[in-house]
Amino acid sequence: MSADFIDLPQLVAARGTVRLPGSKSISNRLLLLAALAVGDTELHDLLHSDDTARMLDALRALGVSIEPIGENAYRVRGTAGKLPVRSASLFLGNAGTAFRSLTAVLALSGGRYALTGVPRMHQRPIGDLVDGLRQLGAHINYSGVVGFPPLLIDPPSPPKPGDMPVIKLRGDVSSQFLSGLLMALPLYEVETRVEVTSELISKPYVEITLALMARFGVNVERDGWQRFTVPSGSVYRSPAEIHVEGDASSASYFLALGALGGGPVRVEGIGRDSVQGDIRFAEALAAMGANISYGENWIEASAPAGSLLRGLDLDANHIPDAAMTLATMAPFACGPTTLRNIASWRVKETDRLAAMATELGKLSVQVDEGSDYIRIHPPAQGLSPAVIDTYDDHRMAMCFSLATLGTPLRINDPGTVTKTFPDYFQRFADIGQPVPVVAIDGISASGKGTVATRVAAALGWHYLDSGALYRLTALAANRAGVDWTDEAALARLAATLDVEFAGERISLAGEDVSDAIRREDISTGASRVAALPTVRSALLFRQRAFRRAPGLVADGRDMASTVFPDARCKVFLTASVEMRAERRYKQLLKKGIAASIADLLLDLRARDERDSQRSVAPMQQSADAELLDTTHLTIDCAVNQVLDWVRQVPKNR
Ligand code: DC
Repeated sequence: MSADFIDLPQLVAARGTVRLPGSKSISNRLLLLAALAVGDTELHDLLHSDDTARMLDALRALGVSIEPIGENAYRVRGTAGKLPVRSASLFLGNAGTAFRSLTAVLALSGGRYALTGVPRMHQRPIGDLVDGLRQLGAHINYSGVVGFPPLLIDPPSPPKPGDMPVIKLRGDVSSQFLSGLLMALPLYEVETRVEVTSELISKPYVEITLALMARFGVNVERDGWQRFTVPSGSVYRSPAEIHVEGDASSASYFLALGALGGGPVRVEGIGRDSVQGDIRFAEALAAMGANISYGENWIEASAPAGSLLRGLDLDANHIPDAAMTLATMAPFACGPTTLRNIASWRVKETDRLAAMATELGKLSVQVDEGSDYIRIHPPAQGLSPAVIDTYDDHRMAMCFSLATLGTPLRINDPGTVTKTFPDYFQRFADIGQPVPVVAIDGISASGKGTVATRVAAALGWHYLDSGALYRLTALAANRAGVDWTDEAALARLAATLDVEFAGERISLAGEDVSDAIRREDISTGASRVAALPTVRSALLFRQRAFRRAPGLVADGRDMASTVFPDARCKVFLTASVEMRAERRYKQLLKKGIAASIADLLLDLRARDERDSQRSVAPMQQSADAELLDTTHLTIDCAVNQVLDWVRQVPKNR
């Protein structure tokens, strides 16, 4: 996905089944263990993502043979701990799992290597791991800032004969240091102990490491979470074939959708006996009141009866990644939610504590940000539409998609999800049921405003008069002295219009402009600004933000084609030019304005010509829209016809 943004409609419900992509943590560990093992390994259900691509590329650059043998399956030729390429420069992107574990393995494997990543990777600490490896005789130099990548690795000093080496390692910055070190120690050939000198965070990730090492025949002796001993003679032996579990962190978004959107939503690929710590996210959901059920290879979530979730006060140290999902669910709970002991958020893909607080704030959610905790207060007035920044962090993009259960959203740089879940937004769209839209487009004076307002009232839905936004832009430009041809300035005005729609009343910067925007000079201006592509795109999200529960009736020129292409029902109104001229004539007379039918006819013909010929968003009937010719219809008949069409369409469209 290369789009700059994705606009997500507000959802009214969520239900369905999702087959999860493979776990990132397991995929990258298994690739490395298979490469170091004696014997070949067939890996099935491997995750395809940026992070796993970095590990695959790196291992291939190190001379490991990895052949595809089917969809998401590879055969890895084990090297028995002797990586064939002894000198290489590896680029590891922002893949923490690859960077930390390869640092440890390469530092003990006797070659010369340079390890680099993206700029954010160079801000993520690695000093504790380097200090630990140096205690074993590793030669690692920082080629940038001390304590951070990039690194230069030279062959280590040989093990000293005598006592068992004991490495002191801090465990309170990232558990990946311990995981990486443990996976590398069988290469060292001497019994070695690691002593964790501070509180070990994210323990479940270390459990994954130990469980997978055991699958490859290496049993680490563990004394609590403080001491880990890798016995001498530990050799990785391939289990021949191994399947990757679905990603438990990725599961969290869909389970959350089920808990917030009614459900049930089922995720397949993990089950009650998963080795992944993030499975315990489901317990947090249950503590919020959601209904959770488990099978061997699935988990299902649905909303509690009455559908309101409770706020939580949780030490989330054991589920640091999935806890982000709790943070974006928190605005929907009754009562505040506090997530504690999550200082590690600050050294992830971005400073997630700061990013979370900033972006929740855009949704009108009040947040208290502590050094290692976050408290989220549900807003009394519901969520506001917002443009969410993702900070090159896949989890920011995915967890914020949940806010659509309360508001339409724009998410910038959605392609960041390729780090761990390339088709996330497709799967999300399969599960979420968007607020329904009726799109009523039509030619000038065909009666679409009147019909759309009446249809909205009959359904009890919101109404968008999109033409008013072009008129407001023209009025704002007129007041600011901006020329009709100054496209950049007009687009800026359109993007920042301070407007409020309250029933019939439309205000601009607090002033009632309901009549002013209908003036003749403003009508002309509106048709000029509407032909400018940057103005149209500046107004796009503003129009989509009107799509609020329970539904929206939108009228304009491009509602069906561009603004709401997924509208449940699309109608195109037309009427003979003579009839439209007559209706306009009567309207003007009613307002006491003198007019001539002949002039009105000329004017309408000219406008029709301009609207259908303009290069940007020319007015045309969408192929999937119903045509409604109102020439000989009363308004009541036209409204009833549209309502009939709306009722005929199945609800899930
Ligand atoms: O519907 P209206 O007359 O209020 O629209 C004002 C102008 O904006 C008119 O010139 C058509 C244009 N417009 C548009 O290009 N696209 C829309 N969706 C709505 C209106």
